[in-house]
Amino acid sequence: MRSQFEEGITLDRFIYETTQAHPESTGRFSTLLRQISLASRLVSARVNRAGLAGMLGTTGEVNVQGEFVQKLDEYANNTFKRALEHAGCVAAILSEEDEGPYFTPERFHSGRYIFAMDPLDGSSNIDVNASIGTIFAVFRRRSPEGSRADMGDILQSGNDIVAAGYVIYGSGTVMVLSTGAGVHGFTLDPSVGEFFLSHPDIRLSSDTRMYSVNEGYTATWTPEVQKWVADRKTLEAGWKQRYIGSLVADFHRNLIKGGVFLYPRSSANPKGKLRLMYEAFPLAFLVEAAGGRATNGHDRILDQTPGGLHDRTPLFIGNPDPVDEITALIRSAAQ
Ligand code: AHG
Ligand code: MN
Ligand code: MN
Repeated sequence: MRSQFEEGITLDRFIYETTQAHPESTGRFSTLLRQISLASRLVSARVNRAGLAGMLGTTGEVNVQGEFVQKLDEYANNTFKRALEHAGCVAAILSEEDEGPYFTPERFHSGRYIFAMDPLDGSSNIDVNASIGTIFAVFRRRSPEGSRADMGDILQSGNDIVAAGYVIYGSGTVMVLSTGAGVHGFTLDPSVGEFFLSHPDIRLSSDTRMYSVNEGYTATWTPEVQKWVADRKTLEAGWKQRYIGSLVADFHRNLIKGGVFLYPRSSANPKGKLRLMYEAFPLAFLVEAAGGRATNGHDRILDQTPGGLHDRTPLFIGNPDPVDEITALIRSAAQ
């Protein structure tokens, strides 16, 4: 039997062939994707050895979100920054873990792209060996390349995203990527350190009745969200529920098997909990490219423009029918 290495399409080959199709491409975008791949392979290796490498637990610090920083949060944050800052492709890196933008240091070329990331999503699951991941979105800067980026480059609308993806560190490491035309999944073969195309052109399956939400918060939701979830639980409705508590893992399952993920506003989190730039934007870009939808309960996520780096948002994301239905319920309750 031929090995995957002999006949598979590597991520590098995929990047090369995709960017060749764009004659205006300068090569900076390919570099960016290659450096993302390098950083995610480094993080994947560290995640797999976390218990042995003394990487479990917190650093003792609290981040800008008011959450304890896990050692792996910090490792992933630094690894992505180190992999990207010198490569000449980014002007700024925006991270869930950092209060302000990280501008490319002056000794390096300040490139064309703005990189926004949740370096490690699902960090409360690290110590229990459940799946975690890195989520990212890429914007093109508006100001000229070579100079320091400004706030107009940083706070762009979701409609300005040029690429997005995530890497899930689970039973295997998988990178899911889109530049707008299709969503593709690549599985890391750790024996050769390469990502191979394993899920070409992912489309959301339409007939799945699966919802993901933290039902422990039911009493804190608005009545229309309570009703929608309660209606899923009747015998006739026949829905299933799955919730891991790592957005990246819940989203990945729904992308492959179909379903809808909800993180509504609540009395505890009136603006929602998830972050617009680092969580909602990238996954909304991916879900739409796979035939799905993402709203904040009223409007399309990608039509939003952040007012601040760490804005939060309610999120309803997945198959079009359930997202449309919940959004319609919430909209009519607001009238
Ligand atoms: P992070 O680990 O990056 O702070 O994100 C945690 C998020 C997300 O992964 C998940 O969907 C959500 O928090 C879970 O929140 P609850 O525990 O409130 O359900
Ligand atoms: Mn997160
Ligand atoms: Mn995180």
